[in-house]
Amino acid sequence: MPAPSSVPELLDRVRRSGLVPPDRLDGFVAGLQASGQAPATTAVLLDLMVEAGMVTRFHADKLAAGKYKGFQIGSYLILDQLGTGGMGQVYLAEHAAMRRLVALKVLPVFASEDAVARERFLREARAAATLDHPNVVRVFDLCQEGRLLYLVMEYVEGISLQALVARNGPLAVEAACHYARQVLYGLQHAHDLGFVHRDIKPANLLLDRAGVVKILDLGLVRSQADAAAGLTRKLDNRAILGTADYVAPEQAVDSSSVDIRADLYSLGATLYFMLTGRPLFPDGRTAQKLVWQQIKDPVPVTRFRPDVPPGLADVVHVLLQKRKEDRFQSPAEAFEALAPWDDVEVSPPPEEWLPQQPARVQAARAAAQTGGTARAGSTSQILTLAMRSESGVSRRIRASGGDPSSEASAIGSGSAIRRRANPTAETDAVCSDDTTRTPHNPRRPRPAEPERKRVPLLVLVAVCAAAAAAATAAVLVAMR
Ligand SMILES: Nc1ncnc2c1ncn2[C@@H]1O[C@H](COP(=O)(O)OP(=O)(O)O)[C@@H](O)[C@H]1O
Ligand SMILES: [Mg+2]
Repeated sequence: MPAPSSVPELLDRVRRSGLVPPDRLDGFVAGLQASGQAPATTAVLLDLMVEAGMVTRFHADKLAAGKYKGFQIGSYLILDQLGTGGMGQVYLAEHAAMRRLVALKVLPVFASEDAVARERFLREARAAATLDHPNVVRVFDLCQEGRLLYLVMEYVEGISLQALVARNGPLAVEAACHYARQVLYGLQHAHDLGFVHRDIKPANLLLDRAGVVKILDLGLVRSQADAAAGLTRKLDNRAILGTADYVAPEQAVDSSSVDIRADLYSLGATLYFMLTGRPLFPDGRTAQKLVWQQIKDPVPVTRFRPDVPPGLADVVHVLLQKRKEDRFQSPAEAFEALAPWDDVEVSPPPEEWLPQQPARVQAARAAAQTGGTARAGSTSQILTLAMRSESGVSRRIRASGGDPSSEASAIGSGSAIRRRANPTAETDAVCSDDTTRTPHNPRRPRPAEPERKRVPLLVLVAVCAAAAAAATAAVLVAMR
């Protein structure tokens, strides 16, 4: 359909698009005429409609290009495009009746006819439906509309860690550690349920307006059940690897058989990126990066960030070990190791860092009373307290005189005390580019580690309960 050449033609398309109720559109046009503001061009009319919150800029661009169909998928009205990825487009949408904002991940028609792509998409849906954790994006539904297959997800109004670093440069030490620990908290939950994410990277981690980091994109997730049935290998046949900058050495060789330790490497590369503003190997083509992940040591983090404490550089070093046996063996173990640098409150991102929502979206949010504008007693604070109290539990188990070679993995429902896979492995390899010091392996106790002040567990539980009660009260007030 060609672009509309006149205002009446555009109005006709808007009517046919179903974006605006007919009486509202008529009233709007009548109001413009009555106030002597009748638009002379289609562009002016579209600008006025965006300003009035009747359509979004996304709609206006499509309408200006002559497109007026396809804004409605099932019960959802598409409001904006949130992202494009390997698995299709992700849109911000509003449930027509409930007016709830959601994210829709739509598998393109051509891909939904491809058995492997379709199966992978279904696998993402099933995995996401199994996981239930504040640090993993929630999936509400899997729907089919004609030949379109789409996931209905929680809309995370936030900024990816990739975009955050691109916008502000490397993060403060405590912010980087706080975000990394949240990812580990979510990964431990996935691990407890037998999943490996396989595509942990800054672009798949969204920081929301309350300061909570959500793991996205379970498109490459591998479950123990799928692996046992040989499904992962079948689906992985077409060289799916994850992203070269963040992929673990063993995943570059055989993506189908990796375990949670591959996610720990990717998280290490993500933490490195948050601290330095650069990936492990910024130069080179994809094939070279994949080889370097296996054989080359990255420039030590402290070379770019001298303010990174040596103990934290050690943790990054262990996460990035080439041999999975030399890394931390579970997210809980890495979560524990990062605790010393996650001991101050990290503020939620300021409003100006978040995507600026068009008037149409703000109206939808106000109508649905969603979007979490209340920031006091933020989820981030509550989560931090929960994480700290859980890692406190873990420390207590260790301190209670258990076998020093066993590691308490106290995060997440199904966690158990796990023995280190390779307690005697030698991991103190010196990075090739750094001859100044030998990184300490944080999986072994650091000698003369200063005793950190600990908040008693009971106090934490009480604070958590109070915070939860306050949050509930706020919700009840908001609902009245
Ligand atoms: N639930 C969501 N809320 C907000 N934005 C999202 C959501 N899911 C995805 N996005 C955006 O869409 C982009 C692509 O989504 P992703 O799930 O990573 O798909 P792909 O498999 O195609 O990489 C993300 O980087 C993010 O910017
Ligand atoms: Mg992605």
